[in-house]
Amino acid sequence: MSAPSFEKPATAAAPVLEVEDLRVDLRTPRGTAHVVNGLSYTVGPGETVAVVGESGSGKSVSVLALLGLLPARTATVTGRALLQGEDLLTMAPERLRQVRGPGAGMVFQDPMTSLNPVLTVGRQLTEGLRAHGPVSKAAARARAVELLGEVGLPDPGRAVGRYPHELSGGMRQRVVIAMALANSPALLIADEATTALDVTVQAQILDLVERLQSEHGTGVIWITHDLGVVAGIADRVLVMYGGRCVEDGTVDDVLERPVHPYTRGLLGALPDLAADPDEDLATIAGTPPAPTDLPAGCVFWPRCPVRGDARCETEQPPLAVVGRGGAGLPHRAATWCAEREAS
Ligand SMILES: Nc1ncnc2c1ncn2[C@@H]1O[C@H](COP(=O)(O)OP(=O)(O)OP(=O)(O)O)[C@@H](O)[C@H]1O
Ligand code: SF4
Ligand SMILES: [Mg+2]
Repeated sequence: MSAPSFEKPATAAAPVLEVEDLRVDLRTPRGTAHVVNGLSYTVGPGETVAVVGESGSGKSVSVLALLGLLPARTATVTGRALLQGEDLLTMAPERLRQVRGPGAGMVFQDPMTSLNPVLTVGRQLTEGLRAHGPVSKAAARARAVELLGEVGLPDPGRAVGRYPHELSGGMRQRVVIAMALANSPALLIADEATTALDVTVQAQILDLVERLQSEHGTGVIWITHDLGVVAGIADRVLVMYGGRCVEDGTVDDVLERPVHPYTRGLLGALPDLAADPDEDLATIAGTPPAPTDLPAGCVFWPRCPVRGDARCETEQPPLAVVGRGGAGLPHRAATWCAEREAS
């Protein structure tokens, strides 16, 4: 195994986001939880990077850390996260507030975390629009109605006057998506954003995001458990386990030629692991490690059905290039068994 861990993809345009060696520790009553452990990736303009992995693998925490949304009292975040060249991790809070919106929009699974219950959705949308540029009240309101229509809200002209509690969960989620898209952000982070929506609305939202990407070059991080969505929208896939990236590469490399036993288990491609026939991630026997008690060697070792290398139990395999996908993008995996396969 040879190549360096932090090799950059061979894209010509400067990345929208460059994350390097991101680490997040959270202080808990059970000790320090090592939730994100050296994550490095890039998102290019117009590119969609899907982040997959079982519950608890650190997907949400890794993106919350980027936008300074973890509790400062208990979270320690290190590394670099350059959004269009500016480091989000060392940015002053005031600057970070300015950057959220036109710089980076985020959609969470639970819409109520992003909505103010005492303001109408129209007011929240227009405030977001006017906070980042000189827009008249009337123009902002017209744009708010337009955005609500674009995310598929029925009767958007009336919906702008409604409070969040007057809308269904699915409608609230669409409002949050409209808010995130309102300022055509350079980076959109969607954390299980469409999971609760029905498939027709989901398809509508995915189309809208694609349009935003082609019109504005928005880079997208899409966190999901739904492999159908991954196959449909992702350019690249990053597989997380135990707070680490265990495999990443082009969507074809990762979904069609997975190398890491964990990825192969998720995809139901490893016969020793239980495969789920539907499109969701397959179930792998055993449970992920507690972030307060990570294994000394390969983070997947306790559950790995093909462990065999003497180093598996004691040494963390580095993320190394195992092949090249389209446009020369590296396909990387962190497993000693890839080395055995490659040799
Ligand atoms: N505020 C917190 N304090 C302590 N531990 C936390 C906190 N938030 C998350 N964790 C722990 O960090 C780990 C990663 O959580 P995270 O929410 O990032 O997982 P996830 O990959 O997004 O999972 P899911 O697919 O269920 O959304 C989990 O073990 C979780 O219990
Ligand atoms: S390094 Fe060893 S334990 Fe880890 S995934 Fe590869 S074979 Fe399994
Ligand atoms: Mg999550």
